[in-house]
Order: sequence, then structure tokens, then C-alpha cells
Amino acid sequence: MQISHIKYFQVWIPIIAKWIHEEWSYAFPALTLTEIQRGLFGRMNETEMPITLVAHDERGVLGTASLKAKDMDSVPELTPWLSAVYINPEYRGQGVSKALIAEIEKLASVAGYPKLYAFNPISQGVFEKMGWRVLETIQVAGRNIGILVKDL
Ligand SMILES: CC(C)(COP(=O)(O)OP(=O)(O)OC[C@H]1O[C@@H](n2cnc3c(N)ncnc32)[C@H](O)[C@@H]1OP(=O)(O)O)[C@@H](O)C(=O)NCCC(=O)NCCS
Repeated sequence: MQISHIKYFQVWIPIIAKWIHEEWSYAFPALTLTEIQRGLFGRMNETEMPITLVAHDERGVLGTASLKAKDMDSVPELTPWLSAVYINPEYRGQGVSKALIAEIEKLASVAGYPKLYAFNPISQGVFEKMGWRVLETIQVAGRNIGILVKDL
């Protein structure tokens, strides 16, 4: 498996945009599929946030994760964010998210940030397994969402 910047694999942007739209439309109902695609096509530099990575191998695109300066309007003081971690359902349970998250953590750490934030439905517990802790719980569209933090 390799991890690359999305600018080298723009051909996968439509599928990645669809994943993001389907998974997080509850949290960002105003964001259309077209706007997500446009945002990803605009994400072509490798050092300034937002940065989007893709995991891939000979099977194609396995998953994606991003590093963003802002993700949750309700907590504008927190930065930066591990955002939009999504693994192709066919390739889950193979350590792909672990690899992507480690790479995003490295980018944030190298940029000098002491902490990284993320949000996730509170019931999932995926991030906690990777050393993240819940900072606070908020309600988004009737769901309990955990705001998580990782010390880098
Ligand atoms: C959650 C998700 C990112 C996990 O991706 P994945 O590549 O299957 O995860 P990995 O194989 O790297 O597993 C990493 C760890 O999380 C655990 N894990 C994976 N999916 C899990 C789930 N749904 N619930 C609880 N733990 C889970 C694994 O057991 C593993 O722990 P371990 O190292 O102790 O064995 C993936 O299911 C997904 O894309 N879901 C939809 C989008 C989403 O919820 N994103 C996360 C919030 S931004």
C-alpha cells in the first residue's frame, strides 16, 4: 500500500467526493457533491492545509484522509483537524485507516502542531483505539458526536 497526495490521483476525486458526501451529509447538509468535488480538485498543494491523502495499491483507491485547519464551526478555536477518514468498504479491517491517520499525524507534527483534533460519532470508538481521547461531546443533527484530541 502507498499513501500519496490527491493531486497525483485526481482520477479518483469523483469516487472520493461521493464517499464523503454520503458519509457526512448529516453533519454538512448544505454541502453538495459538486462542491465537495470542486474542493478536492482545488486541493493540489502538498504543504498548506487543507491536505488530502489517498491510500492505494494495485487494486485502486483504498481510502482517504485529510488535514484541515478548520472542520467544526462550533469549535473554531481548535486546529488542525484530521478530517474525512473514509476507507472503501471492500478494504476495511486491513489497517488502511491506521496507516492514513499515522501519516496525517506526522504531517501535523512536522508542521509544529502539538495536538490534532477529529470528530466522530461517539459510539464508534475507532479513534480511541489509536490513542485519541474524547475532549467533549456535542449534538449534531441529533447524533452524539465526540470531539477527539491526540497529543502529537
Ligand atoms: C472507521 C474506518 C475509518 C476504519 O477503517 P479501517 O481501515 O477498516 O480500520 P483499520 O483496519 O485501520 O483498523 C484500525 C483499528 O480500528 C478498529 N476498527 C476498525 N473499524 C472499527 C469500527 N467500525 N468500530 C470499532 N473499531 C474499529 C480496528 O479493529 C483496529 O484496531 P486494532 O488495531 O486494535 O485492531 C472505516 O470503517 C470507515 O471508513 N468508516 C466510515 C467513515 C468513518 O466512520 N470514518 C471515521 C470518522 S472520520
